Amino acid sequence: MSDRAANGVQAPVVQLREVTKVYRKGAQEVRALDGIDLRVESPGMLAVVGASGSGKSSLLHMIGAMDRPTSGEVVVAGRYLAALGDAELTGFRRKTVGFVFQSFNLIPNLTALENVMLPMEFNGVDKHERGRRALALLERVGLGARATHRPGELSGGEQQRVAIARALANDPPLVLADEPTGNLDSKTGQVIYELLEEIARERTVIVVTHAEPLAQRAKRVVHIQDGHLV
Ligand SMILES: Nc1ncnc2c1ncn2[C@@H]1O[C@H](COP(=O)(O)OP(=O)(O)O)[C@@H](O)[C@H]1O
Ligand SMILES: [Mg+2]
Repeated sequence: MSDRAANGVQAPVVQLREVTKVYRKGAQEVRALDGIDLRVESPGMLAVVGASGSGKSSLLHMIGAMDRPTSGEVVVAGRYLAALGDAELTGFRRKTVGFVFQSFNLIPNLTALENVMLPMEFNGVDKHERGRRALALLERVGLGARATHRPGELSGGEQQRVAIARALANDPPLVLADEPTGNLDSKTGQVIYELLEEIARERTVIVVTHAEPLAQRAKRVVHIQDGHLV
């Protein structure tokens, strides 16, 4: 893999140094992240566990280049994110990061196949290749037979599997999942978690959750509390 050093030693795909994020709402300041140091290797799964409001989503937003830290360094897949302009960050995000959300965030009037094809379109992949690859990804998550269904015709677990296929569309080295089982019953959540574990054999998956039992399945677990890793 490209993020492996030539000597076979694993290089970090994510490295955070002293990352702080302060949100300002009028006169109020919220220190959502406070001096986070984190190094994540490839491949594998990291679970980040913390209560609601502890900073989990903020952490993923910094790693996934959806927002910039107030201070500190974020390096992902060898790119020092502070050095990238906004347009470069968008391109970086498309190629490097796949996102999975609690509420699936599929586009309701597109079919499962079209939802998975969409990130490839933004990335300039031709239509034939988009369709071929999207179908292969839906088959991989066990939904080949549902390709023409719209999200409203799918169960929650099926929608999340489509979302995982979509996250893999541009073959990113990094997948970020924000409470991916939060809207699912525990049995369906387990299936989704197993799928993410399988994906983590070939790339890096970071899952944030407040569900401790699921997180225990991950090889590495870190806890976040009031914006600190503990
Ligand atoms: N855009 C924002 N503006 C202001 N405050 C925010 C914003 N996003 C998050 N926060 C605050 O930052 C803290 C951490 O939020 P978040 O990262 O969403 O936590 P979690 O995902 O663990 O629930 C919370 O106090 C939250 O209210
Ligand atoms: Mg959150």
